[in-house]
Amino acid sequence: MTTDNDIRIVEVPPGVFNATSTVPGDKSLSHRALILTAFAQGTSEINGLGTGHDVAATVRVLRELGITITGNQVVSKGIDAWTEPSGPLQCGNSGTTMRLVAGALAGRPYRAKLMGDRSLSRRPMSRLKGPLEALGATVGLSPIGTPPVEIAELAGKLSGRNVEIDVASAQVRSAFILAALQADGTSSVSSPFGFRDHTERWLESYERGRRLSRTTFEVYPGPLPTNRYDVAGDPSSAAFLWTAAAIRPGSKVTTTGVSLNPGRIGYLQVLESMGADVEAQVTTSIEGDPVGWVSVRGTPLQATEIAGDLTVATLDELPLVAVLAAMAEGVTVVRDAAELRVKESDRIASTVGMIRALGGGAEASNDGFEIIGTGWLESGVVDSVGDHRIAMASAVAAFGTLGPVHIHGAGVAAISWPSFYDDLETLWSSR
Ligand code: S3P
Repeated sequence: MTTDNDIRIVEVPPGVFNATSTVPGDKSLSHRALILTAFAQGTSEINGLGTGHDVAATVRVLRELGITITGNQVVSKGIDAWTEPSGPLQCGNSGTTMRLVAGALAGRPYRAKLMGDRSLSRRPMSRLKGPLEALGATVGLSPIGTPPVEIAELAGKLSGRNVEIDVASAQVRSAFILAALQADGTSSVSSPFGFRDHTERWLESYERGRRLSRTTFEVYPGPLPTNRYDVAGDPSSAAFLWTAAAIRPGSKVTTTGVSLNPGRIGYLQVLESMGADVEAQVTTSIEGDPVGWVSVRGTPLQATEIAGDLTVATLDELPLVAVLAAMAEGVTVVRDAAELRVKESDRIASTVGMIRALGGGAEASNDGFEIIGTGWLESGVVDSVGDHRIAMASAVAAFGTLGPVHIHGAGVAAISWPSFYDDLETLWSSR
C-alpha cells in the first residue's frame, strides 16, 4: 500500500488469508457511554473507546460542558451541573454527536448552539425539532432545516410526552430519550423497526426505561449511576474485514469482542444470503447489549435483495453490500434506503460512483441502488467524496479487483478508524 498526500493506492497480492482480529471500540456505543456517564454524578471508567474523530468530537463537546475526561475516566457533577457553553459547540463530521448532545441539552436551562463541518452542515436536523419540541424545548435551525442547531433557553421543565417518530433513526430516538430523562414525567417514543437500541438497553439496565413493544420505549426520568464500562468492538468496522474475506474465496477472518446488537448485524444476514460462510456467537452482554465473535469465510457469492427492516439494520454497511454484489453473480437490489441520501455523503450516489469507478455496473434509484454482479471489478480511481465509509469500502474492494485501487481523499477513514489501512494490511500479511 502506498500513500501520497491524501491518496492511497491499495493493491492486494494474490492468495488466501486466515486472520483473527479485533477492531476499534464501537462508535455508537462510545458516544452513548460518554454522554450517559456524563449524566451521572461521580467518576466513571470507559475502556476501549472508539479511536476515530467522531468520538473525539463528543469528548470535546462534553469538555465544553464542564465534564472532565482524562484517559479512560469521565468525571461529572451530573446532568444538572452541566455548564453553559461559552461559545458554539463544534461537532465536526459527527451527526451522532450533534443529535445526541442536542437531545441532552434540550433539558438544560440555558442556550446552546451546535455546529458542524461542511458535510454535517448539510445534513437534516429538522427531524429533531418535532420530538424535542413536543417535550417543551425550542429548537432553532437554518431555514432549510440544517445546522446550526440552536437550543433556546428553557422556560420551565420539560414535560413527559408520548411521541411517534416517522423516520427510522436511532439518533433521533436517542436524542428524545436523553431529553425525556430530564422531564417531569414519563415519556414514550415509537419509531419504525430496525434501529440500533443501545441507548434503550443501557436505560433498561438501570430501570430508567422499559420496552412496551418492539418499537415503543418508555422513559422514566431520574438520575443515572456512574459506570465501569467496556466498549465492544464496532461491527460496522469489522464489516470491512468480513467483506475482505467474503470476496476472496477460501479466505477467513475472525473478529472478536464485537457488538452483536440486532440493529447492527443485518450485514451478517446479507452475507449469509449471498452464500458466504458466516459463524457468530454471543459470548457476553454489556449493559444488556450482546457482544461476541464473528467468523466469515469467502465462497462464490450470489446476488440478493435487501429491503425494509433489513435495510435499516444494514444501513452503514450498504457501500460494502455494493462491493459484495459486484463480486457476486446476478443483480442485487437495495430498497428502502433513502436515508443514505443524507449520510456523510449522498451515499446512494457515492456508492454507485465507487462501483462504476472500478468498472462495475451500478444504477441509482430514489431509495437505493442496483448492482449488476459480474464476479469481478477492475482497477480504478475512487474519490471518497469526504465519506469515511466510501474510502474504506474502496480499499476493501481491492481484495477482489484485478488491479490496484487508487483512493483520493483516503485519510477520511480516520473519522471512524484511524489505523484502518495498516490494520487492513495485516490481513494479507497473515497469509
Ligand atoms: C447511529 C445511527 C444511524 C447510523 C449512524 C450512527 C447512532 O444514523 O447511520 O452511523 O449511533 O445512533 P441514523 O440515526 O441517522 O439512522
